[in-house]
Amino acid sequence: MWVEGPDLEDLKQTGKARMRGSTWDVLVCWAENQVFAIENLCSHALVPLHTGRLRNYVITCSSHLAQFDVRDGSVIRGPLEGDPENIRQQVTYHVEVKNGRVYVEVPE
Ligand code: FES
Repeated sequence: MWVEGPDLEDLKQTGKARMRGSTWDVLVCWAENQVFAIENLCSHALVPLHTGRLRNYVITCSSHLAQFDVRDGSVIRGPLEGDPENIRQQVTYHVEVKNGRVYVEVPE
């Protein structure tokens, strides 16, 4: 289902916006002049990625500093502490921008 996300101009200012539902937690990113949406809970130990740093296409988890590419959720760098076996590619979601507003397709 498609859900309404942040205002695009606001997202350009903040760079990141968290969206949450009862069964999903999504991080919307403004990266290199494009919008992306990625599963917000880090696959390593479920720390929310929205507290991490976004630079170019790379989000760095604030907990153990794993890095993911927001374009496809792929792991760029594993965690620097803890069990590295837990980490996997983050799920990504389709996004659309309509009338200055971001919409994200999230799981039902
Ligand atoms: S919880 Fe994200 S790197 Fe460990």
